[in-house]
Amino acid sequence: MDIREALYTTRAMRRVKPDPIPEDVQMRILDAAIRAPSGGNNQNWRFMLVDDPAKREQLGELYKVCIDLLWATIYKDKMDDAESDSTDPEAVQMRKIIKSVGWAQDNFASYPLLLFAFDRNDSSGGSIFPAIWSAMLAARAEDVGSSLTSVLAFKNSETFEILGVPEDKGWKMAACIPMGYPTGTWGVAERDPVHEVAYRNTWGDDVGFVIDEPLWSPES
Ligand SMILES: Cc1cc2nc3c(=O)[nH]c(=O)nc-3n(C[C@H](O)[C@H](O)[C@H](O)COP(=O)(O)O)c2cc1C
Repeated sequence: MDIREALYTTRAMRRVKPDPIPEDVQMRILDAAIRAPSGGNNQNWRFMLVDDPAKREQLGELYKVCIDLLWATIYKDKMDDAESDSTDPEAVQMRKIIKSVGWAQDNFASYPLLLFAFDRNDSSGGSIFPAIWSAMLAARAEDVGSSLTSVLAFKNSETFEILGVPEDKGWKMAACIPMGYPTGTWGVAERDPVHEVAYRNTWGDDVGFVIDEPLWSPES
């Protein structure tokens, strides 16, 4: 797969089939992930694949609680907007996210594979997120959908207990990435365009070009 196709179309793919992901595919995803950079090449990371049905069930129960907590706290205002009949683009987008996340909440235990990433002595997360994103890109190259979730942090101790992670060794859960073969199709991720979020030379100065359409599309 062209790297640009993976870069443009890797997005939160939450609706997936329960079909298992073969071991050779899992190997290629993880082996690509650990090629990622980390500060000082410390590689102070651990990854855990979870496919055990009983553990997925337990984690699914926790996930439900965590998402409810997320909506009721950090996302409370956005939830209120989304639940109104506002046509504001942010409210419209939030409604889509709520639906998609709701699917994950209802079906968490049916994800065939969960990839957990842990790091240590990395307060910014800068040394683990390159590997996480590499795993997601590598999954995309295998037609495996994935989504990055961090919300289990609300129930960190319970998650550590289920996974047998030692609490006293400094490990921090960076993300849980549910994976599976998508039920839908891949599309280009919609984002605010470059010229609205990038400057040149001085903060606030025009970057010097306008990009109205993504520079890669399935037809290019
Ligand atoms: C640091 C981080 C934490 C995230 N946490 C969650 C999460 O807990 N649950 C979830 O469903 N998605 C989570 N996401 C996924 C984002 O919601 C998603 O990337 C964003 O809405 C863009 O979606 P798209 O790529 O499909 O356009 C997280 C993404 C990042 C980068």
